[in-house]
Amino acid sequence: MSQSAFTISHDQLPALVQAMPKAELHMHIEGSLEPELIFALAQRNGVTLSYPSVEALRAAYAFTDLQSFLDIYYAGASVLLKEQDFHDMAWAYFLKAKADNVVHAELFFDPQTHTGRGVPFEVVIQGLHSACERARTELGVSSALIMCFLRHLSEEDALKTLEQSLPYRHLFIGVGLDSSERGHPPEKFARVFARCKELGLHLVAHAGEEGPPEYIINALDVLHVERIDHGVRCVEDPELVKRLARQGTALTVCPLSNIKLCVFKTMKEHNLKTLLQHGLKVTINSDDPAYFGGYMNQNFLATFADLDLDANDAYTLACNSFEASFVSDSVKAGWIAQLDQTFARFNAQS
Ligand code: ADE
Ligand code: ZN
Repeated sequence: MSQSAFTISHDQLPALVQAMPKAELHMHIEGSLEPELIFALAQRNGVTLSYPSVEALRAAYAFTDLQSFLDIYYAGASVLLKEQDFHDMAWAYFLKAKADNVVHAELFFDPQTHTGRGVPFEVVIQGLHSACERARTELGVSSALIMCFLRHLSEEDALKTLEQSLPYRHLFIGVGLDSSERGHPPEKFARVFARCKELGLHLVAHAGEEGPPEYIINALDVLHVERIDHGVRCVEDPELVKRLARQGTALTVCPLSNIKLCVFKTMKEHNLKTLLQHGLKVTINSDDPAYFGGYMNQNFLATFADLDLDANDAYTLACNSFEASFVSDSVKAGWIAQLDQTFARFNAQS
């Protein structure tokens, strides 16, 4: 269906956003740990938290930048010890995804956050994998795992993690780069990404969230990534914007995250609409939904409420999420056909 063909009215947008099938391409599974589950797992595993209650923990979610969030995020992950814990965390996410009509999710996981505390790699990946399988059979939600390297650690540590992961190579589809961006440029991880490319893994990296446009350029030119996670600072370099548009490189944007981490002061100031107007392949994602105030549909609704987006933008964003995913062309075509049916139904009612 061609863009700008829809006459669906503004008051129908919430129902349309809910009904349309979509893919989530940028979410950290450890960032889906709700305070209630953190406390339940702490109790189950005998872990002491430095917050007295769920309410006190949630009240601490007042971040000033990425690092202030990461400090709490890594502390929250300390309750994950057993395979069942990883399974329970991912299963809770999949229930939310299903409720939002997410039909496919590519989940980031941070093995070093766990292996650094003595949790074996196998425990992490088997717990996540069994939840992915369960999501497929019980919910009809498709998913895949992307292993992220923590960029505040050394490349040697990332290489060691890659070695540990090799017996489980069949359980994840790609690698990414996350954690503290400033001062840890993509080129720090050139060798490990080159090795991952040889292994046939998909490659993505966080870049241009807090870091400058050069980090996006080096993620593309040095790491050879296929998607940029965030990438919102690309607008500071008009040549880069033109290149991203020409190449059709996807930017997996996370609107609520960007507000919570003060990348933009308010949603009205978010540049997502500008990125779309430049012809960039933007997708909407939740990043760390338990910490940033919403899952997929809340990200869509908050963005649409403040940026004057319409049904044509909703179609573009959902279609981009399928096109930028790492599934086969035939699977993408099936989901886009479902998307077309949803929009045709709403269009006929308008
Ligand atoms: N890890 C979890 N969320 C992240 C984000 N938004 N940026 C970088 N690393 C992260
Ligand atoms: Zn992220």
